Amino acid sequence: MLTQESVLQSLKTVKYPGFSRDIVSFGLVKQLDIQGGHVSLVLQLTTPNAEVAQQLQKTVEQVLKFDVAIQSVKVEVRQPGATNAGPNPWGNQTRVTGVKRVIAIASGKGGVGKSTCAVNLACALQQLGSRVGLLDCDIYGPSIPLMMGTHERPTVENDLLMPPASHGVKLMSIGFLVEGDAPVIWRGPMIQKTIQQFLLQVNWGELDFLLVDLPPGTGDAQLSLCQTVPLDGGVVVTTPQEASLGVVRKGIGMFEKVNVPILGLVENMSYFTAPGGERVEIFGHGGGQAEAERKHLPFLGEIPLFTEIRKGGDEGVPVVVSAPDSAPAQAFIKIAAALKARF
Ligand SMILES: Nc1ncnc2c1ncn2[C@@H]1O[C@H](COP(=O)(O)OP(=O)(O)OP(=O)(O)O)[C@@H](O)[C@H]1O
Ligand SMILES: [Mg+2]
Repeated sequence: MLTQESVLQSLKTVKYPGFSRDIVSFGLVKQLDIQGGHVSLVLQLTTPNAEVAQQLQKTVEQVLKFDVAIQSVKVEVRQPGATNAGPNPWGNQTRVTGVKRVIAIASGKGGVGKSTCAVNLACALQQLGSRVGLLDCDIYGPSIPLMMGTHERPTVENDLLMPPASHGVKLMSIGFLVEGDAPVIWRGPMIQKTIQQFLLQVNWGELDFLLVDLPPGTGDAQLSLCQTVPLDGGVVVTTPQEASLGVVRKGIGMFEKVNVPILGLVENMSYFTAPGGERVEIFGHGGGQAEAERKHLPFLGEIPLFTEIRKGGDEGVPVVVSAPDSAPAQAFIKIAAALKARF
C-alpha cells in the first residue's frame, strides 16, 4: 500500500548533492500527491544551479521507480530565478569546461590561513589521486606563486592561458602575470574581468577539483566568482577566537546568500605544541567547532600552529608535500579526504 510515509521513506535515501543530509530533512519536498499508483511531487530548491536540479530530479525518479507499487512518477523542480520575472544575477553563470567541481576557500577575515589551507588541501587532494587546479582570486595580494614555489609565466595557446603546474597542481594567479612586486591598483570591473578570464579562458584541462583561494572579505572577487561560475561548495576557514569568528560569520552569510553549499568549517591555528610537548591554545580552542554546531555546518577539522606550515608557505613546498607523515600534514590530508568523500 502506497502511503505518504512510505514514499517519504524512499525519498529520505536521496542525499542533497554535496551534503550528507537528505532532501526530506532539508525540507525540499513539497506537495506530495498520491493517486493510486501515481506519485507527483514538487521539489522546491533554493539554488538556481540547473545541474543540481537535473541531478535531483533524476535521482528521485530512479529511487521511486524502484518501488513496485509506483506506476508513474512526476517530479517538478522549482528554483529561484527560473520563475522570477526580474533579471537573474546568476543567469550568466557558465561551468568551466572539463572541471567537475569548483570549491572556494574563504573567510570573512584576513590572515587566518585561507591560502595556507588552499595550497595544502590542493596538494593533499592531488596525493589522494584527484586531478586538481588552484586558482588564486586574490588580485591585490596573491600568495599562491610563493606558497607553491613557482613564478612561471603562463603561455598562450589557441587564445587560452596555459596554467603552470607545481607539485602536480595546475595554477593560475595574477602573480604570474604582473612584474615582480608591482602593486595591482585596479577597480571592481577589472577584477571581475580578470576573474572571469581566469575561470573561462584558462586551459584547465580535465580536473576533479578546482580550488579557489579567495581574498579576505566579501567584495568584488567573491561576487565576480559567484556570478561567473556555479560554485559546488565553500570551505570556511577561521581561527578559534571570537574576534575572528565574528567576521567569519559574514563569510558564512555570503555563501548562504548566494546559495553556495558550505562544505564545512576548518579551525586553523587551533593549538601549538611547545618543545616540551605541552599543548598551548594561543587563540583559545573549540570556537570553530562551536560555530559549526551553531550553524548546523560540518566541522572539517583543526589545524595546529606549526613552524613547518609557515616555512612550507614561505619556501614554496607545502607541508603536505615536504613532510606528508607529520602531524600538521596529516591534519590537512584528513580534511581533504573528508571533502573528497562528499562528492
Ligand atoms: N597553522 C599554521 N601554522 C603556522 N603558520 C601558519 C598557519 N596557518 C597560516 N600560517 C601562516 O600565517 C600567515 C597567514 O596565512 P595565509 O596567508 O594562509 O592567510 P590568509 O587567510 O590567506 O591571508 P590573507 O587574508 O592575507 O589572504 C602565513 O605566513 C602562513 O604561513
Ligand atoms: Mg590569502
